[in-house]
Amino acid sequence: MNPSPASKIAVLDSGIGGTTTLREIRKLLKSENFLYFGDSKNCPYGEKTDAELLKLSRNNVERLLKENIKILVVACNTLTTRVLAPLRKEFPELIFVGTEPAIKPALESGAKKIVILSTPATARSLEENQLKSLNYSKTISSSPQSTPTSPSAPLEILNLPCPTLAAAIESRDNRLIDETLATLLGDIKKETRAFVESVVLGCTHYPIIKEKIKSYFPNAELVDGNAAIARRVKDILEQKNLLNQNPASGVVEYIYT
Ligand code: DGL
Repeated sequence: MNPSPASKIAVLDSGIGGTTTLREIRKLLKSENFLYFGDSKNCPYGEKTDAELLKLSRNNVERLLKENIKILVVACNTLTTRVLAPLRKEFPELIFVGTEPAIKPALESGAKKIVILSTPATARSLEENQLKSLNYSKTISSSPQSTPTSPSAPLEILNLPCPTLAAAIESRDNRLIDETLATLLGDIKKETRAFVESVVLGCTHYPIIKEKIKSYFPNAELVDGNAAIARRVKDILEQKNLLNQNPASGVVEYIYT
């Protein structure tokens, strides 16, 4: 692998979800050329084992390495939280940028009632890692804070796995998406949902249906990590002198399995 500024930025996901990340990176890096790889045939990733995810992503990375790429954005929370560490070891020559649920920005906003939506695999990972060091209650209470985002209020985080939601979004079937959301979120009482201050979209598919999710949490801010990932990609390429200096607008090539 011998990347140059003219090489492409590869973006990988299980399907269309990573296009939400791609959009943010393109906003920031207008001259770059991209190779978007959506593994739709194997979507959803969030219900697979780590061994299956590693096998699939190893094959996909090998395929992408045959293209002229300079960095690989893993625009998938599931792959990042479950198998990015072993992938980095297997492909030490490749620069990876991962995607993790934006819990930190949600906490930094001062929100005390936070819902994290992600795939079952990511939700498991959060439980085992990122959320472990936090002191919080695992349910959201149906009572307001004394003042919104009060610093002394106890932290409440509902880490909600959303099986089949990414697959429904991938299908682009609006009725299926609505039914899936109703099953997953309808169980949380309306009064409780109204008090939620922050909803972390912990799967890159979810920003595609942001408005639908927002209708369940009318008073919450919806956060995702896509803008931060775009800044990270820019910083890394800048540091490594790999930014494309060509003033012409870049293009995107799409590969879907
Ligand atoms: N969009 C991916 C994520 O961020 C994968 C969703 C899936 O295939 O289950 O987790």
